[in-house]
Amino acid sequence: MTASLYESVSAPLIIKSVRFVKSAVRPAHYPPIDWPEVAFAGRSNVGKSSLINCLVQRKKLVRTSRTPGQTQTINFFAINEAFYFVDLPGYGFARVPLAVKQQWGPMMRSYLAERTSLAGVVHILDIRHPPTADDLNLWQWFREQDIKALAVLTKADKVPRGGWQAAIERASRALGIISDDIVVFSSAEGHGRQALLAKLAAWMEVPAS
Ligand code: GTP
Ligand code: MG
Repeated sequence: MTASLYESVSAPLIIKSVRFVKSAVRPAHYPPIDWPEVAFAGRSNVGKSSLINCLVQRKKLVRTSRTPGQTQTINFFAINEAFYFVDLPGYGFARVPLAVKQQWGPMMRSYLAERTSLAGVVHILDIRHPPTADDLNLWQWFREQDIKALAVLTKADKVPRGGWQAAIERASRALGIISDDIVVFSSAEGHGRQALLAKLAAWMEVPAS
């Protein structure tokens, strides 16, 4: 219970500045490990880039698209010149070319293994669908590598509020996590933004002011 009490009193992170730093496909190209970072992972087209844009309140910082597989590199953004947000390439979409699919696993594994400055991963899922086998595998990696993670159920504007609790319970059971580690979100409407920023502040141990 201590952890959830602590999180509920954390002030949301305040985003003062955002700057695209670079795209990388292998560790040699990552920026130096000078700041803590939070990575955003999830299936192709689930809404990762839209969620980052919503968090930083910049409509076009990260390219979004109706076509799955838009983000194929690891993209680093400097936040407040104090930490990084990292947009990870999506997985699991049938129409993505085979070559792209094959490079995803090694790229992700080496990122998760080598990025010692990783404060945690925000795993984004579509509130309308149960977690896929790929989603569950990702949590297996988080556990194996002792990486802190949260689940965000996005596109909440696409289901009635009355259905949110059932979606939380389904994700909680499938991923084996408590509902405190799940945030309901809508990039279209901004719902969940403050709650997620408060959780990220707790990860970063950023002072309240
Ligand atoms: P890849 O980079 O291809 O892996 O996709 P992504 O996960 O970055 O998804 P992206 O943010 O590009 O969004 C995919 C589509 O979903 C776009 O058409 C978005 O406008 C839409 N979308 C994302 N988030 C939301 C949301 O909260 N609500 C609604 N209604 N649509 C959303
Ligand atoms: Mg994207």
